Amino acid sequence: MTEPTQAAMQPFTVDIDTATGAMPGARNRLVRRASDLKGYYADGAALERLITEGDDPLHYEVFEVPVPEEAGQLMYCISKLQAGRVGDECFMTKGHYHTVESTAEIYICLQGEGYMLMKTRDGQSSCERMAKGRMVYVPPFWAHRSANTSATEPLVSFCVYPGDAGHNYGDIQTQGFPVRVFDRDGRISVEEC
Ligand code: PA5
Ligand code: NI
Repeated sequence: MTEPTQAAMQPFTVDIDTATGAMPGARNRLVRRASDLKGYYADGAALERLITEGDDPLHYEVFEVPVPEEAGQLMYCISKLQAGRVGDECFMTKGHYHTVESTAEIYICLQGEGYMLMKTRDGQSSCERMAKGRMVYVPPFWAHRSANTSATEPLVSFCVYPGDAGHNYGDIQTQGFPVRVFDRDGRISVEEC
């Protein structure tokens, strides 16, 4: 039996500017600035300086053309993570589990470069390189965070995940991920915490 909202939907298309991630009709679902990332970076003092002396720079935005948040639907969005450093650490997203942990996600990198950091609750860890044209498959049960390793270019990704997945930031702020991504004098370094 088809759910009412699904039955009412019609097929549609969306034109995506793969260079910038712009999607006509998209709403800005999420805007995070440096001040939203307190507690997430290794160097908290450097983050404070960025907030107070650096004008609290934009970290990342998520743009989406909303679809119903229900099983059977596919949520899709553009994630645009700016280039920058907090101390030596590359700008990154908070990272999250899905509320429905059995749901996966696909990231297709449209522009820029970086890493997808992933972990499971039972101690597994993974770090996959992101580059233009590359897809990262985030399996069910894996928390995920992206980091931008470019010094200048935003990391732009197209993300798709089940409509009922949800976002659970859970233990990420206190536990972090097993690795962090640093820029040590121009050399990108993925380091265990
Ligand atoms: O669903 C996703 O994985 C992305 O759309 C992220 O929400 C986005 O990259 C922002 O990251 P976070 O939700 O961890 O702040
Ligand atoms: Ni996700």
